[in-house]
Amino acid sequence: MRSSFLNALLMTVIGSLAGPALGADEAVLRPRVPVDQIEQVRTWTNPIPATDDTIERGKKLFHGKAFCVTCHGKDGKGFGGDIEPGTLKGPLPRNFTDKEWQAARTDGELFWILKNGSKGTAMAPFIPLILTEEEAWQVLRYVRSFATDEQGARR
Ligand code: HEC
Repeated sequence: MRSSFLNALLMTVIGSLAGPALGADEAVLRPRVPVDQIEQVRTWTNPIPATDDTIERGKKLFHGKAFCVTCHGKDGKGFGGDIEPGTLKGPLPRNFTDKEWQAARTDGELFWILKNGSKGTAMAPFIPLILTEEEAWQVLRYVRSFATDEQGARR
């Protein structure tokens, strides 16, 4: 009797330790674009070249009129760095410094998110109300720059 209670307790504790840690990565890496669109969306490429100038313009949008910074943070880490946890309900804003996530997404998938948002989360659509398509590609150049080690110098 007692040992089965302890067993159950132990399983619950182990489950709560291992569960979220494993689940979090999978939940983050799961594609956001619906299966019936993803093949086509993955063929979209960023028409804006990555230069110091275009990344800088993307940064201005990120901090300025597109207010991405309010959820994704100056450091791009979502709630990792300078945003208070618990400010938002639902899934956490993406950590743009996560290289595994960066590698898992094509530019087209990120653009699709800016057009459609991520349903059931605080990530809303930004095109066309807040960003033009061209501005969206610019801001994505900045988002991509969080994956590179030189990023520290730019922030
Ligand atoms: C109100 C808070 C909020 C704002 C403002 C916001 N985001 Fe997000 N963003 C989120 C959340 C929450 C997620 C995680 C959604 C999910 O898990 O599907 C997210 C996810 C993303 C993703 C990743 C989607 C994926 O495929 O994994 C990208 C790219 C992104 N945001 C870019 C931006 C950009 C660029 C801006 C500014 C134009 C912006 N976000 C503004 C909350 C926000």
